[in-house]
Amino acid sequence: MLFAFLFAFCYCLSVLAAVSGARITKRTVTPPQTLVIPVSRDENQVYSVMVNMSSNPSPQSFAFAISTSTAITTVAGSSCNSCGGVPSYNPSISSSVQQSTKSQNVSTMNGVASGTLVQENCGLIQRNGSAWLYPNQTVTVANQATSFFSPGVSGMIGMGLAPFEDSPAQNWLLHNPTQLAFSYGIALDPPSSSNSSGSGGELHWLQPDQSFHEGEVTWKSMLAANATNPSNMSSWYVEMDAWSATGSSGFNVTQSGTQLLTFLDPLYADIVFPQGAARSIYANIPGASKHSTSAFAHAWKLPCDSRFSVAVTFGSFSTSLDQSALVVKQADGVCVGILQEWIDQTSTEYLLGSPFIAGLYLIFSYAQNGQGTMGVAARSSKNNRLSPAVIAGVVLGTLAVLALIVIAAVLVYFAWLRRSPTSHKRKVSKSEITPFTDISDSSPSRDSRQRDHIGRRTWLAPNTPDSPDWATTLLSDRSSPNSNTFPGGTTYSESRSSQQYYNNADGNVNSTTSLIQLDTPPPYVNTTTPPPVPLLPLRKTRRLL
Ligand SMILES: *[C@@H]1O[C@H](CO)[C@@H](O)[C@H](O)[C@H]1NC(C)=O
Ligand SMILES: *[C@@H]1O[C@H](CO)[C@@H](O)[C@H](O)[C@H]1NC(C)=O
Ligand SMILES: *[C@@H]1O[C@H](CO)[C@@H](O)[C@H](O)[C@H]1NC(C)=O
Ligand SMILES: *[C@@H]1O[C@H](CO)[C@@H](O)[C@H](O)[C@H]1NC(C)=O
Ligand SMILES: *[C@@H]1O[C@H](CO)[C@@H](O)[C@H](O)[C@H]1NC(C)=O
Ligand SMILES: *[C@@H]1O[C@H](CO)[C@@H](O)[C@H](O)[C@H]1NC(C)=O
Ligand SMILES: *[C@@H]1O[C@H](CO)[C@@H](O)[C@H](O)[C@H]1NC(C)=O
Ligand SMILES: *[C@@H]1O[C@H](CO)[C@@H](O)[C@H](O)[C@H]1NC(C)=O
Repeated sequence: MLFAFLFAFCYCLSVLAAVSGARITKRTVTPPQTLVIPVSRDENQVYSVMVNMSSNPSPQSFAFAISTSTAITTVAGSSCNSCGGVPSYNPSISSSVQQSTKSQNVSTMNGVASGTLVQENCGLIQRNGSAWLYPNQTVTVANQATSFFSPGVSGMIGMGLAPFEDSPAQNWLLHNPTQLAFSYGIALDPPSSSNSSGSGGELHWLQPDQSFHEGEVTWKSMLAANATNPSNMSSWYVEMDAWSATGSSGFNVTQSGTQLLTFLDPLYADIVFPQGAARSIYANIPGASKHSTSAFAHAWKLPCDSRFSVAVTFGSFSTSLDQSALVVKQADGVCVGILQEWIDQTSTEYLLGSPFIAGLYLIFSYAQNGQGTMGVAARSSKNNRLSPAVIAGVVLGTLAVLALIVIAAVLVYFAWLRRSPTSHKRKVSKSEITPFTDISDSSPSRDSRQRDHIGRRTWLAPNTPDSPDWATTLLSDRSSPNSNTFPGGTTYSESRSSQQYYNNADGNVNSTTSLIQLDTPPPYVNTTTPPPVPLLPLRKTRRLL
């Protein structure tokens, strides 16, 4: 009897302790759990998630492209005739919609959609089929659109910084005032070179998944686009610290020490650099020539066996893409570069789209006051490589253990191989330098290279017989291998007599000796004046992006 009483007493005490303990941890804010949101990738290489709108009388279910440059959500409305016939949202059959009379235009770099604003209860579909509910989300219901919708994709979920009041993040922060931030991680699977559809990876909603990244996370403040950084391409930028491009012909172009405003958005399947930067890379790639033009960028075509890589640095984090990601073979057999240049020669921003994002782990975090931080880290190799083996383990039981050992041995072997210094140095090996004196067959193609898609004379390809080549001249005249080509820019080539810089088209340089012929020189070309502020001339920020 006494024992029973003592036992009950102790039990009560421990329950009390547990309860108060739980209260204390609650008060110090339990971080949210990771919700896994599956991402699909369709044959147009659009990355999308599923969102159910309303639930009364029944959910209307849509694929939404993910975009990080804006916080606006847009859906095709059922009355839209120019939305490409995608599945559309009908507010009149929803009992939870709150209509408004306000309308707005939502632009991406590809197109624009316009319509009225509604507030609707939405649910983001998780991997296990449950929905993460976010009520009263502001949604633009498009009744008119131009080049905005991709087949089968009904709209766009804005997961970016601004306008913050339209963001699912602010909505959640308002309902969770004790939480310091709304965060999510992006782990995308790479785009397919054959345009097939498949898994696009996943989002780690509310709480990034640490097992998906390794090494240090570099954090960058998101700078809101404003009159000082006026572009309407994105609502925010981070500062990239440097980029460099190197190739088998022995070149090395770098830029650092200047403000490199960059935005990362998986909505775009491109990497876009300012004109001077992109041209400084392609001028070093033998056989590269201007090819096609999208709504916002010019692309190059280049030999399918081109070898080069582009590396970018954010703080202590650095990563690079090589030709396997940078060169894509089209259905017609032509190889084009993923890295493009802005059509607008005054644009100084850098866009790193899905081919870049897919190799890394990205984190976006928004504080209660709307300040944004972007984190970037290397994707954990463990996470990608072992998951097939883990599945095999479930299916094959003990056999898989043997398989794992073999796989591990092979991985270790390859890792060891990769670390060996000979394979590391391949890209800059002198034995691979393309002979730059071979000019015999370049004449016919050279003429076509000198005009862009609208017939303007834009640039001259390397290896023209009578001109100093980017990769062939002048080092003997210049003792230093380093010289500014644009603020912080340097081009260095390994071959002995192989140095060339931008020439300002100021009269004494005629067009045959100028590698890059611009209608107006970009602001950073002139090396004789102090580096101009890269962001001029100012353009007005468009209110809605
Ligand atoms: C949207 O764009 C159209 C055409 O460019 C313009 O007439 C209209 O005023 C814009 N609407 C808003 C809300 O900005
Ligand atoms: C940005 O604004 C300019 C002019 O205001 C316009 O010509 C351009 O198309 C806009 N770009 C985007 C991506 O909306
Ligand atoms: C799906 O996962 C979430 C978060 O882990 C959980 O709250 C929910 O109960 C799960 N739903 C089902 C049907 O298992
Ligand atoms: C989302 O909508 C689809 C289609 O109406 C429905 O089958 C599904 O059950 C909904 N999911 C949730 C979690 O409500
Ligand atoms: C949604 O908004 C309406 C009106 O603005 C408000 O009455 C309702 O409480 C809100 N619901 C939630 C869950 O915030
Ligand atoms: C505009 O952006 C600049 C540079 O990103 C920043 O220094 C400045 O504080 C911003 N101005 C406003 C009003 O937000
Ligand atoms: C290219 O040049 C930069 C700066 O000089 C240097 O940090 C980088 O290691 C070089 N890359 C290669 C592959 O030589
Ligand atoms: C993939 O799609 C793009 C654009 O839709 C097209 O230009 C390209 O030829 C396609 N590539 C292949 C291999 O089908």
